[in-house]
Amino acid sequence: MLLVKLGGSVVTEKTHLRTPRPAAIRRLAGELASLREPLLIVHGAGSYGHILASRHRLSEGGSTPSRRLAAARVQADVRELDGLVVRALNRAGLAAVPIPPSAVLSLDDGRVSTMDLTPFLEFASMEFTPVTFGDVVRDVHRGFSVCSGDLLMLELARSFRPERAVFAADVDGLFTADPKRRRAARLLDTVGPKDLSQIEFSAASRTDVTGSIEGKVRRMFEIADHAGECLIVNGNVKNRVRDALRGRRVVGTRVVRGP
Ligand code: IPE
Repeated sequence: MLLVKLGGSVVTEKTHLRTPRPAAIRRLAGELASLREPLLIVHGAGSYGHILASRHRLSEGGSTPSRRLAAARVQADVRELDGLVVRALNRAGLAAVPIPPSAVLSLDDGRVSTMDLTPFLEFASMEFTPVTFGDVVRDVHRGFSVCSGDLLMLELARSFRPERAVFAADVDGLFTADPKRRRAARLLDTVGPKDLSQIEFSAASRTDVTGSIEGKVRRMFEIADHAGECLIVNGNVKNRVRDALRGRRVVGTRVVRGP
């Protein structure tokens, strides 16, 4: 089993509300369809999720009518993006089936409370390709909350123990600083918990409603614990995601579990 997350900044224009990147979605769908091994696909929400979720502070939950309405709108928006991804995958020849987290998962103060893995297991056993995504989900403590694709990667890695877990980002991997802001930033070939101290996590990269980059990297260490290997690669470079999933050596960062 192979596990892949298509980052929201690859499948959408992250700063333009509900703007997809259809060419990238189509190309990546083709790359994924060319693989021989069974796949589980997760994708981020990008501008279909983060913009409204942060404007309405959805990660805090709440029960006011306006928050509820915003949560429902974001759920509808991320399903729209998922529709684009699933259709592209189907067109490329994968029998992709959407599994919305809002229907199968509930959180407890941001941590997983329950997750029904049956649809993933059964569709996968029938040779469908399950597709899930960052979403607004129930939270027994907050009412509702934002669930990132990364959290889904962890839960799926825990249950399916994939041979490989690959994160497709809009940069080559993890750098010693934000490569979009610092020219001296250096790509890390491998990163483990002990390397965190050499990384400069800038405040600007902390805008996500699903947490800081440091938090995301820490989650990847957990994922690395349940996968044969865990990699971050550039999803904007043609065939890099495909080659990484095939186990070829590619430019990127290998995430290794801690001691
Ligand atoms: C975000 O999911 C979910 C919502 C904002 C609803 P992710 O955190 O996985 O999305 P990206 O990859 O950063 O866009």
